[in-house]
Amino acid sequence: MFSNLIKFFNRITIKIIILYSFTLLVSLVISFFMVYSFFEIYLENKTKDELINKAKTYKILFRQEGIHGLRNQIIKEAEIINNVELFFKIYDKKGEIVLNTNAGIHTKDLVINLENYEKLKPDNYTLTTIDYFDVIVYKLSNRYILVIGKSKFENNKLLNRLMEIFYQAGVIVFFLSLIGGILITNSITKKIKNISNTAKDISTSMKLDSRVPITGTKDELDDLALLINNLLDRIEQLVKTLKETTESIAHDLKTPIARIRSATENLLMKNNLSKECSNLLVNIIEETDSLTQMIEDLLTLSKLESGTFQLQKEKVNLSNIVKKLYNLFKDYAAIKSVDLRLKIQDEIYIYANEKYISRAIANLIDNAIKFNKENGYVNIELYQEDQGVILKIEDSGIGIPEDKLEKIFEKFYRVDESRGVYSGSGLGLSLVKAILLQHDASINVISKEGEGTTVIITFPNITNL
Ligand SMILES: Nc1ncnc2c1ncn2[C@@H]1O[C@H](COP(=O)(O)OP(=O)(O)OP(=O)(O)O)[C@@H](O)[C@H]1O
Ligand SMILES: [Mg+2]
Repeated sequence: MFSNLIKFFNRITIKIIILYSFTLLVSLVISFFMVYSFFEIYLENKTKDELINKAKTYKILFRQEGIHGLRNQIIKEAEIINNVELFFKIYDKKGEIVLNTNAGIHTKDLVINLENYEKLKPDNYTLTTIDYFDVIVYKLSNRYILVIGKSKFENNKLLNRLMEIFYQAGVIVFFLSLIGGILITNSITKKIKNISNTAKDISTSMKLDSRVPITGTKDELDDLALLINNLLDRIEQLVKTLKETTESIAHDLKTPIARIRSATENLLMKNNLSKECSNLLVNIIEETDSLTQMIEDLLTLSKLESGTFQLQKEKVNLSNIVKKLYNLFKDYAAIKSVDLRLKIQDEIYIYANEKYISRAIANLIDNAIKFNKENGYVNIELYQEDQGVILKIEDSGIGIPEDKLEKIFEKFYRVDESRGVYSGSGLGLSLVKAILLQHDASINVISKEGEGTTVIITFPNITNL
C-alpha cells in the first residue's frame, strides 16, 4: 500500500503536475496578495482624504457660524446618515464633551487621547484607527477639537468580496491547470512509455526486432527514439553476426568430430586390442559424444537467444510429459541409488513446444539425480494453482552455495565441486532458461549447500494466456 503510494508519486506525470500546479498556485497567491494590499491601501487613503476634507469643511463652517452652528449642522448630518457610518465628537479646551454622536452602539464611550493637542496650533490633525473606525482628530481652534470617525465596515465588505472572488478564481484556475498539466505530461510520458516498452520487449522476450515508434513531432524525445532505434539496429546486426559465427564454427566442428568417432569405432572393431587400449577408445567415443552434444546445445541456445526464432507451441498434456520423463530416468536413478518419486495431478495442460519443454525438464531431473548423494531422493511434483501450473523438482543432493546461485544459469558455468567429479558442460541450465523464457514461465531455485536443491517452475495457466 505504502510502496504503491511512493511509486505513484515517483511517476514523472505526477511530479510534473504537482510542480506545475504548485507553481501556479504560489503565483496566484502572490498576485492575490499584491492586488489585495493595493486595494487595502487605496481604500484606506480614500477614507483618509474623505475625513480630512470633511474636517476642513467643518472648520470653514466653524469660522462662519461658530461652535453652535457647527454643532447643529453635524447633528443634522448624523441623523441623515443614520448614525451608522460616521461618528462625531467635539471637545472643548478642558476636555469636556460639547458634541457626541453615536455610530453603532459604543462610539459614545470611545475614549480619545487628547493630551498632545494642547500645545498644537489650530488646523493640526492626526489620523488613527480606533477599534473598527478610521479617526481624524482635528484641532479647530485653541478652544475646540473635532473628532470624526468612519466605520471600516464598507471597506472590509469590499475586501471580503475581493477575497471571495479570488478563492473562486483560484479553485477554477487550479483545476484548469491540473487538466492542462495532465494533457501536457501525458503526451510526454506516452513517448517515454514507448521507449521503455521497447526496452522491456527486448529484455524480457529477446524481441530484438522491436523498435520505438517515431511520432514525427521532431522533438527531443523523437530524437532519442531515433537514436535508440539506430543503436538497436547495430545491436541486432552484432547479435546476428555473432550467431552466424557461432553456428558456422559449431557446424565446422561437427564433421571432424564425427570422423574421429567413426575412426575410433573402426579401431574398436579390431580383435587384437589390449583391454587398456579398448578402454581408451571407448573413452574417446564418450568424449566425442559429449562434444557433439555440447555443439548441439550451443546451436540450440544461439537459435533460442537470437531473438528472431519463435518456438511453435500448442496445447500439450504436461502430466503425460512429466510421466514419460519419470519412466525414462527411473533406471538411471536406480543405478545412482537415488529414489525417484513422482506426485502429479493428471490432465494438466499448458501451451508449449513438447520437444523443447521435455528437454528443459529432462535437464532439471538429470541435475537432481546427478548432483545427489547415495540413497538420496528426488521428488517430482506437478499441480495446478490459481497463479499457474507448478512443477517442483526437489532433491536431497549436494546443494548449491548461496553466492553461486545466480551464476548457475550462465553458459558453461559449473559450481567448482561439479568440475571433474560430475559429467556435463554447464550449458543445461542456460538452455532451460532460454526455453522457459519462450514459454513465459518463471524459474526459481532454492538451495542449501549439503542439504539439497528445489527448482520451482511456474507456467501460465491456459486461461490466463
Ligand atoms: N540440483 C542441483 N544440485 C546441485 N547443483 C546443481 C543442481 N543443478 C545444477 N547445479 C549446479 O549448477 C551447474 C550448472 O548446471 P547445468 O545443468 O547448467 O550444467 P551441468 O549439469 O553441469 O551440465 P549439462 O547440463 O550441460 O550436462 C552444475 O554444474 C552444478 O554445479
Ligand atoms: Mg545439467
